[in-house]
Amino acid sequence: MSTVPNARTIAGPIKGDGSPRAAQSTRPFVHVLADTSDKLSAICSALEQQFTVAGERLDAEARLAQVPFAIVIRAELRDVDNIAAIKKRSARLAKATKRIFLVEHSSHVCISQAYALGATLVLPGPLNKTSLLAALADPAEPASGSAQPDNAVQTAATAIASMFTAVTLGQPLDVDGTKEAGRKIAERITEHGLSEWLTTVRRHHEGTYQHCLLVTGVAIDFGLSLGVGRADLERLYSAAMFHDIGKAQIPLAILDKPGRLDADERAMIETHPAAGYDFLKDHETISPEILDAVRHHHEYLDGSGYPDALAGNSINDIVRILTISDIFAALIEHRHYKPTMPRTEAYNILCGMTGKLEKALITSFKEVALSR
Ligand SMILES: [Fe+2]
Ligand SMILES: [Fe+2]
Repeated sequence: MSTVPNARTIAGPIKGDGSPRAAQSTRPFVHVLADTSDKLSAICSALEQQFTVAGERLDAEARLAQVPFAIVIRAELRDVDNIAAIKKRSARLAKATKRIFLVEHSSHVCISQAYALGATLVLPGPLNKTSLLAALADPAEPASGSAQPDNAVQTAATAIASMFTAVTLGQPLDVDGTKEAGRKIAERITEHGLSEWLTTVRRHHEGTYQHCLLVTGVAIDFGLSLGVGRADLERLYSAAMFHDIGKAQIPLAILDKPGRLDADERAMIETHPAAGYDFLKDHETISPEILDAVRHHHEYLDGSGYPDALAGNSINDIVRILTISDIFAALIEHRHYKPTMPRTEAYNILCGMTGKLEKALITSFKEVALSR
């Protein structure tokens, strides 16, 4: 029998120095913060078999003697008191390798708020024990062991979340910030390669934001492998960062729905390229090439795509590269409810899309898909 106490006995405001009573345990130490005792108990119960857990309500004053390797936070992020309470603990939060936010209202606004508060991972929706344990069990660092390997990922995830939020709230987009995040991804991939990017992103993000990060990474690496110039690379990563911005007005419940979409949901999803174009078209700093890529990234050479059923030469090179990157990224993304598709299998699916994608580009893409 373990010497670790039942975490529920320490859930709620912690007395004294706030140390978990199992400090002598060698099991990793996780600190849980929540805005109600019920939430605190539920999370502590989910974790206590594998971790030493200390719980603390956000409205309590507590100091931990020990730095946890992970902090799990579940709170209503539309409540200003909760936000203030989390901010007050920001110095302590920064010391934990993992800062996992369980966001109840899976709206772009709440997810964006979680990133702004320093989340390294956001898990939206009801408490999912399997996802949470998997996130905590994953090694936090890639093998490279570089000092702050997740900086580019976090900057980019925050940029994407803010972009979706700005659209939702009708606020101005931070175009320069988004492009800057794309540039950081390009730097990171140039230095560490695509595989490291894919692994890190899939470990830290779920759903729509993961998808945008993966597409951007794949598009950059595809561009690098093709030897495109600096200006084109910039167009490519900017287009990739913005490509699904039209999804900002589609509920996350549909965007991140496990399994198949019904006809109405599919029709709603298919509005996103034109909606994205409409959001962006009045921004002076967004070039016509980027606008074109956002609007047309679901077009196919045989005219079977949407929204404008473009065909052949009316689909330009940046769009063709982005479309291939988009499909590949969607196939290999990590979802907690299904196994991740191996890159070879995803590449074979692209090869099977005869007539829709440019054959020469698919051939060039092989190296990116399989070995970079
Ligand atoms: Fe899309
Ligand atoms: Fe996409």
